[in-house]
Amino acid sequence: MSMETSKKDASHRTPGDPSPWIRRFAGLVPAAGAVADIACGGGRHGRFFLAQGHPVLFADRDVSGVADLKERQDVEIVEADLEQSGWPLAGRQCAGVVVTNYLWRPILPRMVALVAPGGLLLYETFALGNEAFGRPSNPEFLLRPGELLEAVRGRLDVLAYEQRVTDEPKRAVIQHIAARRR
Ligand SMILES: C[S@@+](CC[C@H](N)C(=O)[O-])C[C@H]1O[C@@H](n2cnc3c(N)ncnc32)[C@H](O)[C@@H]1O
Repeated sequence: MSMETSKKDASHRTPGDPSPWIRRFAGLVPAAGAVADIACGGGRHGRFFLAQGHPVLFADRDVSGVADLKERQDVEIVEADLEQSGWPLAGRQCAGVVVTNYLWRPILPRMVALVAPGGLLLYETFALGNEAFGRPSNPEFLLRPGELLEAVRGRLDVLAYEQRVTDEPKRAVIQHIAARRR
C-alpha cells in the first residue's frame, strides 16, 4: 500500500481535475501516442489524455474507478498489484507515463523503463516534509529531496523539476518532474 488510504475511502477513485503539472506538459507527449496512467484511481489524468486523442492504459490494483471506460476501443485496463513480483507491463513502452500521488520505490525504475523513445515521464507525488501537514506522513511513501531527479539520471532528459509547498488541493509538500527519453 502506498498511500495511507483506508480501503473504505473511495475518494481516490473519484476522478477530479488533472494536476496543473500534468496539464502543463501534456502537450509534449507525442500526438496520439499511448499514455499509461499508473495507479490511476479514478483515472483523472488518463481521462484528460483520452480527451486529447491519446489511447490510454489505466493500471491499478482497484480499477473500479475506471470501470465506466472499459468498453472503449482506445482504453486498456490493467488490474494488478504493482507491488507484487511480476511487473504486469514488462516489455511495454508508452509515449506518456503519468504517475501522481503514488510511490512505491522499488518500481521507480519500472516507471522510467516504461517511457518510449521520444516519450515523457510526468511524475508528481508527496515529498518529505509533508508529514507536517498531514498524510501521507510515512517516509516510505514520501520522496526524498531530488529523488525523482536521481530516478531518471542517465536515462531521461529532465525538462522540468521542482519540489515545493502547494496549497492546492490542500497544503502539501510535493515533488514533480517532466522528463523525456531521447
Ligand atoms: C491516492 S490514489 C491516486 C490516484 C491517481 N493517481 C490520482 O492522482 O488521482 C493512489 C492509487 O494507488 C493505487 N495503489 C495503491 N497501492 C497499489 C498497488 N500495490 N498496486 C496498484 N495500485 C495501487 C490505489 O488503488 C489508488 O488508486
